[in-house]
Amino acid sequence: MKEPLNIDWSGLSFGYMTTDYNVRCSYKNGEWGEIETTSSELIPMHMAATCLHYGQEAFEGLKAFRGKDGKVRVFRMDENARRIRKSAEGIMMPPIPEDKFYEMVKLVVRLNERFIPPYGTGASLYIRPLQIGITAQVGVKPAKEYLFLIFVTPVGPYFKGGFATTPYVITRRYDRAAPLGTGTFKVGGNYAASLRASQEAHDAGYSAEFYLDAREKKYMDECGAANFFGIKNNTYITPLSTSILPSITNKSLIQLAEDLGMTVERRQVPEEELATFEEAGACGTAAVISPIERIDDPENNRSYVIAKDGKPGPVCTRLYNTLRGIQLGEIEDTHGWNTIVIE
Ligand code: PLP
Ligand code: COI
Repeated sequence: MKEPLNIDWSGLSFGYMTTDYNVRCSYKNGEWGEIETTSSELIPMHMAATCLHYGQEAFEGLKAFRGKDGKVRVFRMDENARRIRKSAEGIMMPPIPEDKFYEMVKLVVRLNERFIPPYGTGASLYIRPLQIGITAQVGVKPAKEYLFLIFVTPVGPYFKGGFATTPYVITRRYDRAAPLGTGTFKVGGNYAASLRASQEAHDAGYSAEFYLDAREKKYMDECGAANFFGIKNNTYITPLSTSILPSITNKSLIQLAEDLGMTVERRQVPEEELATFEEAGACGTAAVISPIERIDDPENNRSYVIAKDGKPGPVCTRLYNTLRGIQLGEIEDTHGWNTIVIE
């Protein structure tokens, strides 16, 4: 029998907590092996593994929610399976078969059921798939052996305060990803590239940093860990760029905005257009919708105040409540986004 958990679910931040099990699958001799379950949080690895030296790693982030009806739902795992396969192919790793991905997600959630936050706490179970190249080699080329694993950890809001407006800053001194680089893949190198700008933004009191397009430094790209959207004239506007992650949350919000009768535009968003938005937000699995109070551009001596009254706007609020309602099983899942993992 495991000890009963003593977790302050409502007070959780977005951090790591040890859970009971993680699941793993190895790739060698050109094929994926059987799924294994372990309680070890460690990975035995050769010091010359390609993931350590040449960044051959890709990851994902998705969530499981306990609903009012007690059922546990995982949100859009088919999209995360597709994206990690694309990320893997982008850095020359063999993609995990979708079925294996689904089986591993379901297994790891069920095995850690006691860590799924109760309904009504605002917390969820974050699911983190990871694929790494583990062959020992010093030549810059893809590994022959890979490890795919998934761990889970209960989490609260990514940005302080949860659904509340906070300030963001445009960074002109750093780029996250090049126009034809790895920005559309969820690979560790993009996050390494964002660490300095992110730290500087936090130190200056901002929730996160926004990158502009790396070529012209004119258009909004995204944050270090979330996409951008703006709202005006009943229109949902989000950047089209070759260097941003195709966010599954953003894709879902686009659908929900259309369902609400809004127009959707995916196009380049010039920085100056920020002055015209009625509302704006950062969106992602971890960020959910984080409404934007203002975006400063200190290197250009500009500041764009978006939430003039300091509160989340009506469209952001409606989108947020609808998304959360679907994830928690309170609103009908008309698009078939949820997988019920525990009845
Ligand atoms: N952009 C970046 C750089 C991210 O790390 C994330 C998080 O996954 C997102 C956007 C949002 O993507 P998603 O909504 O699929 O979580
Ligand atoms: C997510 O939203 O799932 C992310 O991966 C963002 C960040 C924690 C890397």
